Amino acid sequence: MKIVVTGAAGFIGSNLTDKLLELGAEVIGIDNLFNGRLVNLEDAMKYKTFTFHKSDIRDLNFLLDVFKDVDIVYHEAAFTSVPQSVKMPENCNDVNVNGIINVLNAARRTDVKKVVFASSSSVYGDTPTLPKHEEMSRWPISPYGVAKLACEQYAKVWHHVYGLNTTSIRYFNVFGPRQRDSPYSGVIAIWIGRLIRNEDLIIFGDGEQSRDFTYVKDVIQGNLLVAEHDIPGEIINIACGNPIKLTDLAKLILKLTGKENLSIQYADPRPGDIKHSFGDISKANKLLGFEAKYTQEEGLRDYLKWYVKKYNVNLKIN
Ligand code: UD1
Repeated sequence: MKIVVTGAAGFIGSNLTDKLLELGAEVIGIDNLFNGRLVNLEDAMKYKTFTFHKSDIRDLNFLLDVFKDVDIVYHEAAFTSVPQSVKMPENCNDVNVNGIINVLNAARRTDVKKVVFASSSSVYGDTPTLPKHEEMSRWPISPYGVAKLACEQYAKVWHHVYGLNTTSIRYFNVFGPRQRDSPYSGVIAIWIGRLIRNEDLIIFGDGEQSRDFTYVKDVIQGNLLVAEHDIPGEIINIACGNPIKLTDLAKLILKLTGKENLSIQYADPRPGDIKHSFGDISKANKLLGFEAKYTQEEGLRDYLKWYVKKYNVNLKIN
């Protein structure tokens, strides 16, 4: 199979690229290296079946050229941060919404067989219903959530109007190897960076908010299952299915790393943050046979082991 991964040098895109190459696919990676890093593609570059283009998904002519004879496009390139979208809503809209319109147009015009879009649980917003299931109403409360909702609706419409085979996967707080430790990154990567530097962990808000943290290997499993099953026009949750409160997560990370001497500090809540996120994965199970293979603790252990080996840090995992 010939597969394009947009955002290939990013956290999720690079993990997906590695797995696809390992399974024998020919992979074309695209990334503008705004958030992505070439170092994430070190393993992929060893494969003769991998090609990389430093380019932008907003360049239609480039996509038209590169999508020729492609079986699947995994669209992972995105503006990914909720707080950054609050600061720069126009950029978020440009990258995410204009970006997917280009990807869908190019895929349609070059007869790509399937497009799989990386959507987000942030489309659900702050509705009280838990767990969040795909058929419920969506009330995003950040520019990022609104943009991801628009993207998945476009993907659906490209199926209904133009017959393109599209599926959107709603990711729930993905964590794991290669997630960046930057102010706009996911909380787990930020906290691991802090505890390695012996800094206290900071929680925005009262720590009662919860997230359904999902290990990246399960997210990759979900993506592979969508390649194997034809579910055009569908939108599907991929989650661990087991939320944890932020305070409990902080305590768990400190316990696993033996850093209980560090404390947990509380700061002002972040605008645009939702309170609870918990994914119902029964649709993914029914249509794809998906089940999360990693609990949050198992995922954290696997991630920490990778981290210690990769960066040669002095951290004992309990
Ligand atoms: C995350 C993803 C987003 C994805 C969504 C659903 C990132 C950067 N964002 O958003 O792309 O679509 O999940 O899958 O990966 N927090 C702290 N301390 C910190 C950092 C964060 O307490 O140092 C809190 C936040 O206020 C929030 C929670 O941790 O309540 C999770 O935040 P974050 O990891 O940024 O993820 P989401 O905003 O949920």
